[in-house]
Amino acid sequence: MSKTVLVTGGAGFIGSNYCRYILQNRPDDRVVILDALTYAGNLSTIADMQSNPATAGRIKFYPGKIQDEVVVNGVIEAEKVDYIVNFAAESHNDKSILEPGSFIQTDVYGVFVLLDATKRHNLERMLHVSTDEVYGTIDNGQFTENSPIEPNTPYSASKAGGEMQVRAHVITYGTPALTTRCGNNYGAYQYPEKLIPFFVTRLMDDKKVPLYGAGNQVRDWVYVFDHCAGIDRVLHDGKIGEAYNIGSEGERTNLEITHALLRLLGKPESLVKHIPDPRGGAHDKRYSVNADKLRALGWKPAHNFEETLEQTVRWYVDNQSWWREITAKPDYQAFIARFYGKYLGEDL
Ligand SMILES: NC(=O)c1ccc[n+]([C@@H]2O[C@H](COP(=O)([O-])OP(=O)(O)OC[C@H]3O[C@@H](n4cnc5c(N)ncnc54)[C@H](O)[C@@H]3O)[C@@H](O)[C@H]2O)c1
Repeated sequence: MSKTVLVTGGAGFIGSNYCRYILQNRPDDRVVILDALTYAGNLSTIADMQSNPATAGRIKFYPGKIQDEVVVNGVIEAEKVDYIVNFAAESHNDKSILEPGSFIQTDVYGVFVLLDATKRHNLERMLHVSTDEVYGTIDNGQFTENSPIEPNTPYSASKAGGEMQVRAHVITYGTPALTTRCGNNYGAYQYPEKLIPFFVTRLMDDKKVPLYGAGNQVRDWVYVFDHCAGIDRVLHDGKIGEAYNIGSEGERTNLEITHALLRLLGKPESLVKHIPDPRGGAHDKRYSVNADKLRALGWKPAHNFEETLEQTVRWYVDNQSWWREITAKPDYQAFIARFYGKYLGEDL
């Protein structure tokens, strides 16, 4: 039976790829996007789906904030929504250190509005897309879903705050909500503030890349379509009220990622500039999650890291108009100046 999925934050990186995932894998379902089009959201990110005659009739876009209950409830009523999958977030850790307030507005209050709307309209399910960063850092071993929630940055704390809203609404009101916690994603359409697209787009122009410290932070890198498949599995088969880790056992240091990008683009090591870590003690050293609970639902990562990293780099090489439109914008230039300005005068 045909379902309508409200994808909040669907004009961003993972949300747009989740829309592609639904359009490809659930041929009867419709996608409705609600996105505030912050600096990280772009209509060009969803233009392929809107202009393709095979999918155009199954996707609709609404501008708006998830904190705006009038807009959220209006879209749900107008489109007869069955499920909400929430990707809308302020998602950049470094930015959260400079302006944490906007993170609380979207990542905590916005989640409350979506939960309230889920209850009010008797929706079938709401899935809140969270992050492995809510657990904090782990030197050895892996976090399970029962590990303590110990976020260390304003970003991860705001995501944890959203999760606590989910938990409380499930317990207090019986709202049919679930949570996923995934590791670092990579793939097409990622805003070029995050490590891989930031470095790829700079290296392509022979600009230096700023690596924090020695680059020995360890992240579990998950290909975005594996994340989307995991979300879809939890949305349909997960147990209400539960959280599910999504991880690929793809641990690599930031330095290893940097070297892989240099290799794929044929660029020299001299383009790497080590800079002091602006997050200081708040920069989590290692994230690692155990995804056995999700694997028990039948999911497993389906993509090879080396192949998909190469495909991702090729996507940025082949789709320069997408990211050059972003990097030419004043707000992007301001981001570079704000975070890396003091190194630009040197040799960045
Ligand atoms: N990127 C990762 O590696 C990663 C890993 C695990 C979890 N996550 C989570 O996945 C989700 C999506 O991440 P992403 O990397 O695609 O982020 P993104 O920054 O690329 O996209 C976020 C989208 O949300 C929209 N948005 C922001 N505030 C909004 C608001 N108040 N109302 C409506 N729309 C709003 C933006 O316009 C943008 O389109 C986030 O919740 C993030 O915490 C990301």
